[in-house]
Amino acid sequence: MTMDLHDYIASIPDFPQPGITFRDITPLLADTKAFGFAIHELAEYANEKGATKIVAPESRGFLLGTPMALEMGVGFVPARKPGKLPRKTISESYTLEYGSATLELNADAIEPGDKVVVVDDLLATGGTIAATNKLIERLGGEVVGLAFLIELTELQGRQVLKDYDIRALLTYEGE
Ligand code: PRP
Ligand code: MG
Repeated sequence: MTMDLHDYIASIPDFPQPGITFRDITPLLADTKAFGFAIHELAEYANEKGATKIVAPESRGFLLGTPMALEMGVGFVPARKPGKLPRKTISESYTLEYGSATLELNADAIEPGDKVVVVDDLLATGGTIAATNKLIERLGGEVVGLAFLIELTELQGRQVLKDYDIRALLTYEGE
């Protein structure tokens, strides 16, 4: 079975600000066939890369990472926004278009030798995933691939992540 997942992404012009088109994945999440197909494709990629763990950044990454990990039969590790993980953590800050953000991982979440596929809904500038990759690598994990539902090609996130193998199910050019 194959599907065109573009049909399940809503494009909202001028959100959250003029000139930006927001790609809304909620229609895909609400359709069991489209959601199942997307998870299966992402899991197949991560299996091909030999992943032993799936890591995803809060919040939207969790929506894809947890069903993927379950389908694959590997562990899921959340990269969380600051102050949410009560045990020992490591953290990385990164710049956003406006301001900065931080992500944290449990310090015992990744073991040396783990092969990790990182998943998120959207690749824009690549900042979120570059920070996530750093956290994994600081703990001795190997990032063997990056999986996205959507890639916004104009923002050149691939350039920031050029040392990694990337799979995006959907691409959008321009705003
Ligand atoms: C969005 C999106 C990606 C990230 C992509 O997350 O879900 O995680 O931005 O942007 P980048 O490639 O430029 O880093 P957001 O920070 O809006 O948070 P959310 O997932 O909690 O909605
Ligand atoms: Mg996000």
